[in-house]
Amino acid sequence: MTSATPPAAGSAPEPVPGSEPQPVLSPLTTFATFLVVTVDPGGEEAVRGLLADLAGLERAFGFGAPGSSLSCVAAVGSEVWDRLYDYPRPAELRPFTALEGARHRAPSTPGDLLFHVRARRQDLCFQLAAEIMRRLGGAVTLQDEVQGFMYLDARDLLGFVDGTENPVGDVARDAVLIGGEDPAHAGGSYVIVQKYLHDLDAWNTLPVEAQERIIGRTKATNIELDEDASHVALNTITDPDGTERDILRDNMPFGSPGRGEFGTYFIGYARTPDVTERMLRNMFLGTGTASHDRVLDFSTAVTGTLFYVPAADFLDDQPARPAAGAATSPAPAPPAPAPIPRPADGSLGIGNLNRSTTP
Ligand code: HEM
Repeated sequence: MTSATPPAAGSAPEPVPGSEPQPVLSPLTTFATFLVVTVDPGGEEAVRGLLADLAGLERAFGFGAPGSSLSCVAAVGSEVWDRLYDYPRPAELRPFTALEGARHRAPSTPGDLLFHVRARRQDLCFQLAAEIMRRLGGAVTLQDEVQGFMYLDARDLLGFVDGTENPVGDVARDAVLIGGEDPAHAGGSYVIVQKYLHDLDAWNTLPVEAQERIIGRTKATNIELDEDASHVALNTITDPDGTERDILRDNMPFGSPGRGEFGTYFIGYARTPDVTERMLRNMFLGTGTASHDRVLDFSTAVTGTLFYVPAADFLDDQPARPAAGAATSPAPAPPAPAPIPRPADGSLGIGNLNRSTTP
């Protein structure tokens, strides 16, 4: 896809076929670590060095553990792009748009880099995440860290199988990887992450049949139900011509029983963030058939960030940094910050971020 030389001003970038994506299409694993950091002023060179070495680190730690499926996807946020690269911005890289529904809100929270580390072994996720943070020491500030795990037969902590309708094969590639619509970024992708905390006590007071109507699938057998206003229905998105639009979700449960924390880390890859944002609007702002997604009555979004996932060969051979003082195309302005829901205890409400920094 990308070459290290930006296309000449005014000319359309040449499509570069055959670019190698990062492992966004890796199969579901049993463990995942999610790191979100912001880049401190002056930390840009350390970040570029780490991103260039990431595939090598993955090989170094994964080679001796065959079958562990260790992988890491790195993604770059809107505000840091112009500090890292003198190269056209990905066409749809922008800050995550906060949503204010009548009942529920989706906050937009800071993040310059996302690392999505996956493996069948927790120790390997830990080892790679530790090396990433060691290399970035002094260059970044941690915003969030979550250790996710597969729960039972791929269930979320609400007790439902999560991920069933994910696209596979060519359909997944087509849903997730940028193509000719943005040739300078072919092979890349967009990813939106949100950390949700569940009120399991309230959820578990509902009869199973009521939970099933909210999700839109049966709990024990995972069969889809014909429910107009369910989570599944609100997230089934079609274009005017009837084409269904997919995203690829790699959600992971996380939590700490001792601290009473139970959550779902939502992560959705897509060729355009528009599709994921349409789903989010349905969930938070409602549709003709539903005022909102009732999953939200039991699940609070405490983070929300949008990133661009460069292709693997972009990271291997990154374009130059902007010259000091050079004018760069301005990043889209961040949307007005939406306050993060505050708990009754008067704390900042993002205390949950710290609470999940330990497994
Ligand atoms: C609290 C957070 C969430 C939980 C616990 C959750 C759980 C689930 C479950 C159990 C299903 C049914 C099985 C399947 O995966 O197909 C599902 C489907 C789905 N969810 Fe979520 N989800 C959450 C958030 C989200 C968000 C934020 C989005 C989009 C922005 C989303 C998009 C989807 C889509 C596209 C489907 C498949 C719909 C279809 O059948 O075509 N989910 N989710």
